[in-house]
Amino acid sequence: MAAPDPNKAIPRHIAVIMDGNGRWAAARGLPRREGHRAGAVSVEECLVACGELGVRYLTLYAFSSENWKRPQAEVTALMTLLTHFLKEKTPRLMQNNVRLQVIGQLAKLPQRNQRQLRETIEKTKDNDGLTLVVALSYGSREEIVDAARRLMEEAKTGAIDPADLDPETFSRYLHTAALPDPDLLIRTSGECRVSNFLLWQISYAEIVITETLWPDFRREHLEAAIAEYQCRHRRFGGL
Ligand code: IPE
Ligand code: IPE
Ligand code: MG
Repeated sequence: MAAPDPNKAIPRHIAVIMDGNGRWAAARGLPRREGHRAGAVSVEECLVACGELGVRYLTLYAFSSENWKRPQAEVTALMTLLTHFLKEKTPRLMQNNVRLQVIGQLAKLPQRNQRQLRETIEKTKDNDGLTLVVALSYGSREEIVDAARRLMEEAKTGAIDPADLDPETFSRYLHTAALPDPDLLIRTSGECRVSNFLLWQISYAEIVITETLWPDFRREHLEAAIAEYQCRHRRFGGL
């Protein structure tokens, strides 16, 4: 598999749609939750590799606004897995100098998850290596509507003049206000769609879709995606 070229730029921000856990489990005759559990190993490998390669931000799509439609048992399994992962891996995040952040409608998550997230965010807040952003109960349309609502409220009170609104101002109202836009978007397991992920932010991201299922995704797959990114000619509408 191709490896990144040390003479070419590494993407500053990589966003990943971690898909295919269910298919991975089904192929082994296992329940879907086993696919999610195996996917947690890929998360750890990916964030260590990103830190070592010099990627600054890694945003992982862990649970979409639409994923609440899944059977209750699967939702519960995912939420339990998340709490366990954070609890168990916080020392590893510290060791690897990773700072945790989250985006999404967090108030919809079970209290236990919210508490664990707050704890890990607080504990890792001064780490200055990789920033790991987990998208949880995240939907890009909801995020954009939330931003529009806040802007309208501020316009009503006169805090902002609608005539001054431009894309840069608008971005400051999104959950990702403090983050640069992703340079590279990876989707695993072959699906060619965005599934309500970072619609605004990926305007000029390079997209790499791999057939590899998320639980099989390892450092070499990440490196191959970065190598592909390095071969792209980003034009941003210019020449
Ligand atoms: C991705 O894997 C994880 C989440 C969406 C939470 P899926 O659960 O979507 O797995 P497939 O797509 O059914 O294989
Ligand atoms: C996208 O995967 C959401 C996450 C990876 C968390 P889905 O499996 O939910 O997306 P669709 O349903 O295939 O579009
Ligand atoms: Mg899926």
